[in-house]
Amino acid sequence: MKIDILTLFPEMFEGVFSQSIIKRAIDQNKVEICLHNFREYSTDPHHKVDDTPYGGGCGMVLTCQPIFDCVESIKTEDSKVILLTPDGIPYKQQMAYDLSLEKHLIFICGHYEGFDERIRSICDLEISIGDYVLTGGELASMVITDSIVRLLPGVIEEESHQNDSFNDHLLDYPTYTKPRVFLGMEVPEVLTSGDHKKIEEYRREQRIERTRDRRPDLLEK
Ligand code: ADE
Repeated sequence: MKIDILTLFPEMFEGVFSQSIIKRAIDQNKVEICLHNFREYSTDPHHKVDDTPYGGGCGMVLTCQPIFDCVESIKTEDSKVILLTPDGIPYKQQMAYDLSLEKHLIFICGHYEGFDERIRSICDLEISIGDYVLTGGELASMVITDSIVRLLPGVIEEESHQNDSFNDHLLDYPTYTKPRVFLGMEVPEVLTSGDHKKIEEYRREQRIERTRDRRPDLLEK
């Protein structure tokens, strides 16, 4: 998979993509991630990328030209162009699965007060990562990239995402590791019993109980 990210702040991504599982996925060529500073595409003599809003109002608005030209230069017939915006479709695990099957994703990160409405015309999808407003789409694109890359074949063991929270609309089951007793808190006996059938049943029950407690809205689905 190839992921292109259009941003005015490529340095923001350095830490996130140079560590841990994402770094390994890049090193093993499971994903190619390219950052594009669309300021470089601005035809303005001062490389301006924003301007004041028509009709008045505060803040600056990203202009169409640099983003249109940047997308045009990297887009192919396999590309899915995604705009990160708080008024997009709420991001869910199912979307991560769907997007992990695509060949080429292009993320457009807005910044400042907003972007020219006409930028939406070149996007196939608009995504919000939650009902709150970030200073830009950068963090949102990192969150989405992370959630997709871990699902790519061979990036992590298939089994580790089979029981992920939100699969089957259920949260994950509780896990424990050594020691068996820590500050008087014991690991549930069933997990040390060696009875795999019982362990499986216990985990399933825990997933349902935990979802009922914490996210009853998921069970309704
Ligand atoms: N840009 C600003 N806020 C955002 C959000 N909640 N999701 C996606 N992109 C954003």
